Amino acid sequence: MRFSINSAFVAFGGVAVAQLPTTNLVGKINNLTAISTALIPETQSLVGNVSSLAILTSDPWTVLVGLFGLAAAVEQDTSAIRAAGPGQYVGNDARSIGNAFRTFGKITRDLVNVLIVASPLLKLVPGAAPLLLIQFTTLKSDVDDFAKTIGGSVEPGAAKNITAELATFDGTLSDAIKVFNVTSATA
Ligand SMILES: *[C@@H]1O[C@H](CO)[C@@H](O)[C@H](O)[C@H]1NC(C)=O
Ligand SMILES: *[C@@H]1O[C@H](CO)[C@@H](O)[C@H](O)[C@H]1NC(C)=O
Ligand SMILES: *[C@@H]1O[C@H](CO)[C@@H](O)[C@H](O)[C@H]1NC(C)=O
Ligand SMILES: *[C@@H]1O[C@H](CO)[C@@H](O)[C@H](O)[C@H]1NC(C)=O
Repeated sequence: MRFSINSAFVAFGGVAVAQLPTTNLVGKINNLTAISTALIPETQSLVGNVSSLAILTSDPWTVLVGLFGLAAAVEQDTSAIRAAGPGQYVGNDARSIGNAFRTFGKITRDLVNVLIVASPLLKLVPGAAPLLLIQFTTLKSDVDDFAKTIGGSVEPGAAKNITAELATFDGTLSDAIKVFNVTSATA
């Protein structure tokens, strides 16, 4: 089978290579989505605490630790996927991988958007903004690597969907990085 290369990712050759079973790869992506999903109510509850000015007796660091854990899990999965082989997924396999990534991207953007909306309050918490900035920068770069790894393993139709979600994801993370950069002139 031959496919034209129409994505920004590394060449998809369409030949059989070593790879993780599709269910395992999709399971890994879904597990990442579960981390982001669980962090949303935690973040919303943090925002509630910030707005009630009970922040000093509550724990804003659970969200930071959660973001750190998410980025670490993304990094770990990228390594595991690369170690298993480059992968050449086609048809429904490629589609389910692409769809799982799109869901992960969307839920994680929802999470980051909760933090962006809460940024005026979160910036009042001593030390929080610089630490969030580091987490967003790390997460953006880790998800870039992850998306490029899986995007290079699926046929072009699915890769295109992954590219599109990654572009939107990068936009949201760039917004967060701008908003939480308290040293920048616009902050
Ligand atoms: C997903 O998470 C569950 C629960 O932690 C774990 O048992 C399972 O092995 C994970 N799936 C993959 C594919 O890593
Ligand atoms: C404040 O934080 C605590 C623990 O982090 C949480 O259990 C509680 O629900 C939060 N309060 C509000 C108003 O969200
Ligand atoms: C790409 O995403 C669209 C939804 O926007 C979906 O209908 C389509 O099946 C996906 N294509 C592939 C090849 O995964
Ligand atoms: C934060 O803003 C400063 C000043 O605009 C810039 O030099 C720096 O690179 C920014 N940091 C990040 C992580 O974007």
